[in-house]
Amino acid sequence: MDKELKELLTHARARIGSVNTTKDLDQVYIEIFGKSGEFTTLTKQLGQVPKSKRPKIGQLLNEAKKEIEQHLEKKRSALSAGRSATPIDITAPGEKTKIGHLHLVSQAIEEIVSIFKQLGFSLQSYPEVEWDWYAFETLNMPKNHPARDDWETFFIKSKPHPNLGNQVLTPHTSNGQVREMLRVKTPPIRMLNIARCYRRQIDISHTPMFHQFEGLLVDKNVSIPDLKGTFDYFTTRFFGPERVTRLRQHHFRFTEPSFEVDVTCGVCMGRGCRFCKSGWVELGGSGMVHPRVLRAGKIDPEVYSGFAFGWGIERTIAMKTNIGDIRLLYQNDIRFLEQF
Ligand code: PHE
Repeated sequence: MDKELKELLTHARARIGSVNTTKDLDQVYIEIFGKSGEFTTLTKQLGQVPKSKRPKIGQLLNEAKKEIEQHLEKKRSALSAGRSATPIDITAPGEKTKIGHLHLVSQAIEEIVSIFKQLGFSLQSYPEVEWDWYAFETLNMPKNHPARDDWETFFIKSKPHPNLGNQVLTPHTSNGQVREMLRVKTPPIRMLNIARCYRRQIDISHTPMFHQFEGLLVDKNVSIPDLKGTFDYFTTRFFGPERVTRLRQHHFRFTEPSFEVDVTCGVCMGRGCRFCKSGWVELGGSGMVHPRVLRAGKIDPEVYSGFAFGWGIERTIAMKTNIGDIRLLYQNDIRFLEQF
């Protein structure tokens, strides 16, 4: 029986060693320890062994069982760790790692920056948590002015600054206008300010956090045609040559005159459809910088003039790609994001 046990051990080791899947390993287990397995058969023969030798053989059987079980265990963890007993096939094609891409908003920011860079605008960034002074006061919106209601502002619970007032989450990128004038001091100024903005609103075309890009140009003899020419250039580059812009009279406290900028609808190309109704979609606000704002930035409005515009990036993307609901941009659904 000694000899048979030794043979069983050698055989078992070899079988376990050659197995490549856990399923095959289960099979080997059955072949050894199953009802009519090799080991089971051997234990059944213990009865025929002379009584005096039985304890010794019994002990050997136990040891053999332990050893085989250890082998099985080791093999099982090796297999589940992905290591196979056969050498790696170095000619097999590698597994491709899925590579993502920039989010739609980041892609748009890159494109917008590169378009305005060619017109000499340089990218600046100004605080996301801003003083009332820069977000409203210096933009010709004194405290309690009803115009402030248009910017449904989030306020920060903090001690107000004696001169700059409360802290807010900036509701627009126009907070950068006076900051930029104070930074540059002497025009020309060509600023592009891209930042996260916050307003208390959420629906199909609004998210409480969104992005705006703001342009500010201040120099001698700047007039409305300069503003219109800049918008035409941007529209052609960003939306394509078949889209055109128009200025519609509007009112902002910090620009005079003020305009809303419209672009022909990308679905009907200006003919009028159920998305746009009139053939035009609204890009955002603009106008000639108000003399009071220039003065707040320590620039003489008798010598210099300028224009400014502030447009929402999510809106602009929606107008290019015809996304119906801008909230989709922030749901992080890979099935949506993968399409761009
Ligand atoms: N800040 C304005 C808004 O958020 C847009 C704007 C910017 C208008 C610059 C005029 C000039 O709606």
